Amino acid sequence: MTPSLSIPPLTKDLARVLIDADTISRRVDELAQKINHDYKDITEPLMLVGVLKGSFIFLADLCRRLTVPHVVDFIAISSYGHKGDKRGEVRMLMDTRENLSDHHVLIVEDILDSGNTLSYLIKTFKARNTKSVSTAVFLDKPARHEVPVEIEYMGFEIPDVWVVGYGLDYKEQYRTLPYIAEMYPKK
Ligand code: XMP
Ligand code: MG
Repeated sequence: MTPSLSIPPLTKDLARVLIDADTISRRVDELAQKINHDYKDITEPLMLVGVLKGSFIFLADLCRRLTVPHVVDFIAISSYGHKGDKRGEVRMLMDTRENLSDHHVLIVEDILDSGNTLSYLIKTFKARNTKSVSTAVFLDKPARHEVPVEIEYMGFEIPDVWVVGYGLDYKEQYRTLPYIAEMYPKK
């Protein structure tokens, strides 16, 4: 069967397209240009560390636009307490294969919500004798922040709604939609 290149339609769970594929592509271009500029003088490859699974499409698009030398690695984390009263707790499920020490590290994440995940990762990686730790985050929900996190490369700010597509999921569905869609709130 020939794969369809048409834009997949919204299913019944999805309320509207929040960010379309062309807008995403232009923004990823801009972020890549900024990264290329900021790291133009590095002497060893930039370590891109994607946070599985949500970042995989953003990371794939971003790294193919980079002209600075870079290598790609992944981590998996698990977070607790997102919806509870307790502060979010983050645990590393899979660490990088590469040794990060003496490298410039760029964490690539799908979305900044409470900030617990990224603040944990930044602190953890800074403690590993890295030359620098920066973050590229595709989406930001400012209304949900609980801990302050400094983001160097931010794609888009969005309202406090559940979004899917471009790597983000609802129960593992919708990750491969080429746009960001807002879900209907669950009843
Ligand atoms: P924190 O709270 O640590 O969480 O900043 C970031 C993680 O929360 C998940 N998340 C979402 N995933 N649609 C998703 O598919 C969303 O709207 C959404 N909001 C938060 C995501 O795993 C992210 O890494
Ligand atoms: Mg994530």
